[in-house]
Amino acid sequence: MFKVKNLEVSLIKNNKIDRLLVKGVSLKIPDGKIISLVGESGSGKSLTGYSFMRIFPSQNLKITSGKIFFNDIDLISLPEEKIKEFRGRDIFMIPQEPLTALNPVLTIERQLSEIFEVHTNLSKDEIKAQCLKLLELVKIDNPAVRLKSYPHQLSGGQRQRILIAMAVALKPSLIIADEPTTALDVTIQGEILELFLELRKQLNLSILLITHDFGIVKSLSDYIYVMYGGKIVEEGIKEEIFENPLHPYTQGLIDAVPSITSVPKKPLKTIPGYSKISDFYCPFYDRCDLAQANCKREFLFTFINENHGVLCRRVIK
Ligand SMILES: Nc1ncnc2c1ncn2[C@@H]1O[C@H](COP(=O)(O)OP(=O)(O)O)[C@@H](O)[C@H]1O
Ligand SMILES: [Mg+2]
Repeated sequence: MFKVKNLEVSLIKNNKIDRLLVKGVSLKIPDGKIISLVGESGSGKSLTGYSFMRIFPSQNLKITSGKIFFNDIDLISLPEEKIKEFRGRDIFMIPQEPLTALNPVLTIERQLSEIFEVHTNLSKDEIKAQCLKLLELVKIDNPAVRLKSYPHQLSGGQRQRILIAMAVALKPSLIIADEPTTALDVTIQGEILELFLELRKQLNLSILLITHDFGIVKSLSDYIYVMYGGKIVEEGIKEEIFENPLHPYTQGLIDAVPSITSVPKKPLKTIPGYSKISDFYCPFYDRCDLAQANCKREFLFTFINENHGVLCRRVIK
């Protein structure tokens, strides 16, 4: 079980907090569940994901508050040499760009082997056998041939499978998949999502799925966190979120999902405005059709039942 409590990630300038980018995010990832973090680009999803690894893409980003528990261990207060043991072994993050995540000058076998070389005492032959098994697990055709391939010789879907193989190599407790299908066409997307479901079942993995795509969320998640402007604005089990979305932002996202079963007669609804971190308590205030002056007041995230919570003034009794 992973638990994030009041996580804050900030942009640092001259050794001071310049801007909060993740503003007090709390979430839970129970064993074997697929938890989605959904929201449009810029809402702070990737930064939340990186926080689990305590590595950010640039030096000026820092966790400035909060806790991340893995069972009873707070990963944020661990010394650097200790967190290294968790990275890659217990928690694996598949980064947003699968292309750049693989080393173009090394074969797939070399890249997979390295994981075992660093983290286990297996012999060369055992490592080779493990690599083959991994490619079978992620359903790559001709695994023996593919091991000798370089990344550019593989399709986008195959590369994503390789990354998933790397992610599950050491049987981590949690994989964080950041926009895992964004670069892929729709059929391949479906296959990759199917693979996540199978692996979750086979390996009892927990998956934190980061995506801007509510369609993907619908097919994959057990529980959903909707993020906007650095905050969780709504959370709940899938049925609650889709059947009774409470936050105007969530409602907008769901309305914007293209329906697979019907050809749209009118242009798809898009959400007006742009994503911007606001200083109001509800970060959606300046884009919300239902906003009123008292939305600028601070109020608390409120649960309407045990499976559904929201940050919206209209829901507070
Ligand atoms: N290195 C950085 N320097 C400054 N701002 C950043 C940096 N990385 C991310 N941000 C800002 O943090 C916010 C959240 O980023 P991110 O977590 O990548 O969003 P998401 O993954 O939801 O698209 C964005 O507004 C982005 O502009
Ligand atoms: Mg991102």
